[in-house]
Amino acid sequence: MNIPKITKILEVKNEVKDIKTITFNHPEGVDPGQFFMIWIPGVDEIPMSVSYIDKDVKGITFRKVGDATSALYKLKKEDRIGIRGPYGNGFELQGNHILFVGGGTGVATLAPAVEYVVKNKSSATVIIGAKTKNELFFEDRLEKCGVTILISTDDGSKGFKGSATDLAQDILKKENFDSVLTCGPEVMMKILLDSTTIPFQASLERYMKCAIGLCGQCCIGEGLRVCIDGPIFDGKTLKNIQDFGVYRRDSAGRKVRF
Ligand SMILES: Cc1cc2nc3c(=O)[nH]c(=O)nc-3n(C[C@H](O)[C@H](O)[C@H](O)COP(=O)(O)OP(=O)(O)OC[C@H]3O[C@@H](n4cnc5c(N)ncnc54)[C@H](O)[C@@H]3O)c2cc1C
Ligand code: FES
Repeated sequence: MNIPKITKILEVKNEVKDIKTITFNHPEGVDPGQFFMIWIPGVDEIPMSVSYIDKDVKGITFRKVGDATSALYKLKKEDRIGIRGPYGNGFELQGNHILFVGGGTGVATLAPAVEYVVKNKSSATVIIGAKTKNELFFEDRLEKCGVTILISTDDGSKGFKGSATDLAQDILKKENFDSVLTCGPEVMMKILLDSTTIPFQASLERYMKCAIGLCGQCCIGEGLRVCIDGPIFDGKTLKNIQDFGVYRRDSAGRKVRF
């Protein structure tokens, strides 16, 4: 499991500018919220949440931000990548009515969890937040599940004008949910955590090297490793992590403010 399995890309889908989904054959089970280490030959190996789960086919959805994601962005159907994993825990998907809050590419991590919840006869409301309407993706895919979708854009070009957190705070006042699940910018998730008392889970991102708990690169708080203790953390744990929403570590392990 800890050696990359070389596989061919089955499909590449352009979601919106700079965001693509890649699917590949991966017969092993994967839980919503878990992640893979994706090896781009000759470039780097990077963590990516599973964004698509359908029997033997799995997928990832990513934004082009640096060297590795730019190289991945250039790959085509039939090109080869290496896959390690899945790693980490998944979301705990319990409750009859769940609020999902996704900011930016965070909705990619939440999508398989939303689909799982609906399949298991629970209901969900999904907030998809982006800077502008041109950056929104997965709206059609989630609409097909029959969940309630609410959109927020920072510039008001679609849906609620403001942040996904503002919209979430608004809906939390009006409706009762059993839990809140979120993935997105950490500052956004911290604001959300501070504004709710119901069960909460967030998917965290940290710079990763080994993904199996050995190198310490992804440490957060008092010795927690995002790769094996996370990437999903509950609200109680996050409230005791002072770094949450404040600091991350760069590739050299230096603390950098969000
Ligand atoms: C568990 C886990 C799951 C992840 N799942 C996804 C996913 O589903 N989709 C996805 O797109 N990314 C995801 N990421 C983030 C992804 O791993 C990084 O974007 C990637 O490693 C960047 O590699 P790079 O070489 O392209 O960029 P780098 O050269 O490492 O970074 C380039 C620049 O972009 C900045 N940067 C790095 N990551 C991000 C980011 N996420 N958003 C904005 N700026 C960033 C860096 O600070 C730097 O300034 C996940 C990370 C973790 C830990
Ligand atoms: S990435 Fe090495 S311990 Fe988490």
